[in-house]
Amino acid sequence: MKFFIDTADIDALTGLVDTGLVDGVTTNPSLIAQSGRKITDVLEKICQIVPGPVSAEVTATEFKSMLAEGRYLAKIAPNITVKVPLTPDGLKACKVLREEGIMVNVTLCFSPAQAILAAKAGANFVSPFLGRLDDIGHIGMELVEDICGIYANYQNFTTEVLAASIRHPTHVIEAAMAGAHVVTLPPKVMSQLYKHPLTDKGLAAFLADWKQTGQSIL
Ligand code: E4P
Repeated sequence: MKFFIDTADIDALTGLVDTGLVDGVTTNPSLIAQSGRKITDVLEKICQIVPGPVSAEVTATEFKSMLAEGRYLAKIAPNITVKVPLTPDGLKACKVLREEGIMVNVTLCFSPAQAILAAKAGANFVSPFLGRLDDIGHIGMELVEDICGIYANYQNFTTEVLAASIRHPTHVIEAAMAGAHVVTLPPKVMSQLYKHPLTDKGLAAFLADWKQTGQSIL
């Protein structure tokens, strides 16, 4: 399972990249807005820090303008993955960008039918938004399970399932159990994955016992 970080916060990202566990990054217009920086500057910097796929979302909604924005974003760095929304124009743009050799992440996926369309359009990634489905009383994880099950039926579907809108570690565990290829983690959730009180308690006891021996390994 690949770990992407869902952020445009360079400081938070740098700290997490040091773990050696980060495979890519996702951004969206809201995250870029939160960063308070120019989109091209943030993306350039992120692509320098992380060699894996870095999703950069178009903000146009009409096919030709989406294509133009996608091509522009793709020129920022070779690891840019253009993110397009799951709309008819977005999927048309996806198909053309893929034919041009540009990586594409189809975002804002909320149904298995939409995920089938994204695979047929040749997307590298499809992003089902779990948390936002949970927010409206659905079980978001069922969407990831359904998409993984459907894609497994067709060898020519090479689109990777990127579990998005992750809110807590249980989402990560369940996405892994469902077979999602990628999870995109808010920095806070990535840090939470390490935590278990018995790890802290066990380590404190080991260190206390060790201290009493008066020994040192080196
Ligand atoms: C994914 O690519 C999106 O940027 C993100 O996961 C959305 O998450 P949110 O629902 O917490 O905004």
